Amino acid sequence: MAWLNVKHLEMLQRQLLAPSRQSLQIVGMSDPLSHAGRASPSTARNRDPILEALRTRLPANGLVLEVAAGAGEHAVHFAAALPTLQYQPTDADPGALDSIAAWREHAGLGNLLCPLVLDASQPDTWPVERADAVLAINMIHISPWAATAGLMAGAARVLPAGGGLFLYGPFIEGDTPTAPSNLEFDQSLRRRNLEWEIRHLDHLVALAATHGLGLSERLTMLANNLVVVFRKT
Ligand SMILES: C[S@@+](CC[C@H](N)C(=O)[O-])C[C@H]1O[C@@H](n2cnc3c(N)ncnc32)[C@H](O)[C@@H]1O
Repeated sequence: MAWLNVKHLEMLQRQLLAPSRQSLQIVGMSDPLSHAGRASPSTARNRDPILEALRTRLPANGLVLEVAAGAGEHAVHFAAALPTLQYQPTDADPGALDSIAAWREHAGLGNLLCPLVLDASQPDTWPVERADAVLAINMIHISPWAATAGLMAGAARVLPAGGGLFLYGPFIEGDTPTAPSNLEFDQSLRRRNLEWEIRHLDHLVALAATHGLGLSERLTMLANNLVVVFRKT
């Protein structure tokens, strides 16, 4: 797999040098194959640490609902590594679904379900009624607060008692100095969109409590990110 990752990055570099190309060619180990799945160097770095955080905290069986799955790289990586789970990737952006579908077809995993449109901010329209875990990676700071509010409401509705909502990304914590890189990132988010910003963990805990979700764990990750786990009480 390491060879494949290097190939992904080489291909990504080539794509950046040739921005007119819309798709990223992925080369398989024994059966060369191209597809339109998007790849990013940050996902190549964070997917294994996130996987290790999830591995011991997800249930052994059941359905993982990924909200804001983006390109689908995490989905295909996690579904391959956790074959006893069913994995449902979703995103609000139809363009993202195309990339997820391309990864899914390329991987041919029986437990990776067809991607679905899901707008976190509209929990009453979620296409999934029940999930044993809900995951959102790098979403809540790059979407309006309404998306976070909807994510909490929707997760609380679909999860069973004890089920986890797993958030990955940067957070601001009242009792911990914010890393300079995260302060700069926060400023850049606000410049891009007035409704985007790194969220305060205290605000998330308060919001979660209104939906019957309690903060269960806070894990330190690479590059000043956290995995934060809320569980349905
Ligand atoms: C920075 S990308 C992260 C994608 C992926 N999770 C990752 O870490 O590579 C943010 C994603 O959030 C999605 N998104 C934004 N608002 C959303 C919403 N209201 N509901 C669901 N997804 C949303 C975007 O379409 C985009 O795919």
